[in-house]
Amino acid sequence: MKAADRTESVTFAIGDVVIPARKLQQEGAEIMWLNLGDPDKFDFDTPVHIKEAAMKAMNTYNGYMDSEGLPALREAVASREKRKNGISASEEDILITNGTSEAIQMIYGALLNPGDEILIPGPAYPPYMSLARFFDAVPVPYRTLEEENWSPDIDDMRSRLSDRTKAILLISPNNPTGALYSRKHVEAIAGLAAEHDIVVVSDEIYDTMTFEEQHYSPLRAEDVPVIAINGMSKAYLSTGWRVGWAIFKDYNGNLSEIKDACLKQLRLRISANTVMQEAGVAALHGPQDHIKKVAQKLKERRDFMYKRMNEISGMTAEKPMGAFYIFPKVDCEDDKKFVLDVLENTHVLFVHGSGFGSYGKGHFRSIFLPPIETLEKAMNAVEKYMKGR
Ligand SMILES: Cc1ncc(COP(=O)(O)O)c(C=O)c1O
Repeated sequence: MKAADRTESVTFAIGDVVIPARKLQQEGAEIMWLNLGDPDKFDFDTPVHIKEAAMKAMNTYNGYMDSEGLPALREAVASREKRKNGISASEEDILITNGTSEAIQMIYGALLNPGDEILIPGPAYPPYMSLARFFDAVPVPYRTLEEENWSPDIDDMRSRLSDRTKAILLISPNNPTGALYSRKHVEAIAGLAAEHDIVVVSDEIYDTMTFEEQHYSPLRAEDVPVIAINGMSKAYLSTGWRVGWAIFKDYNGNLSEIKDACLKQLRLRISANTVMQEAGVAALHGPQDHIKKVAQKLKERRDFMYKRMNEISGMTAEKPMGAFYIFPKVDCEDDKKFVLDVLENTHVLFVHGSGFGSYGKGHFRSIFLPPIETLEKAMNAVEKYMKGR
């Protein structure tokens, strides 16, 4: 039986490279997994008070929740945004989703008709491209400048706007490049969106994971509608719990129909995970001490990887300013072949850059989540391979 055509466009490079790695593992190889952005797989754990809240919730109520989300969590997200970005969001401006991933799907479903365009960073987290095609819409990548720490090229962005453009997407800190967009860039992007009467969609899932400077959100812009998405996966080290949310900051009533269209989709899937939403309330209202510690630990690992990558002849890397990814350029004909050759010869698994769109060609993505000893072992093996190839 043939699957529907729309699924042909669905690819996910981060998962694709796992297949050959599993095969090697079955043959007895010890794989160093530097492909997947999951802190819980390494020495990062969900803070104890949040786990306790989940256990308590499980002993209290296990039924469906309102489709728009647990009121206490929506209120907690609104007050986080007030604290962080100074915006006066209320419970009604927040929708709770099963992970940020569901929020992306819901927003695309609400915004994009066939043939509509969305500007996305080049390179970008792959679902932003796959899902656009799934909805018969067109992901249009805008250039980001590697030599300027992968910051957005505003002129290029402007040149890609058309009368089919529905939204501009920002991912800051960025996956896969680790770029952190400056206030100046964020304001310029918000200005472009305002000029063209379109929405800014802002993926802020790594907003607590920054090393030198703080994250600056387009939610602060005054005269443009913004939908920001975030969640518990990274900031609260609970990727498997699947709790995310979207924050709707309206301007001139432009977002009310879009928000209703989002909610219609949420009603179809009944509810997000009730128990984990209760844990989300504890996460957002409780102590936040782990956030600084996590950022510090990541900074040390970032420094290590940045130094080692740039010491290897044949590769150069920009310094990631946030998240836990580094995206080096490498001398090679074909970046996927390079990643597979590295895997075969060193048992270190990266992700090929072209999996993040055409701007990722000639690069690869590594995480820097593991402890330095593991990163060192991996980088020694990669260095030896690069010298000998
Ligand atoms: C930029 C970005 N957005 C969204 C997600 C998905 O996060 P969630 O676990 O909330 O679905 C990821 C996961 O790695 C990501 O890197």
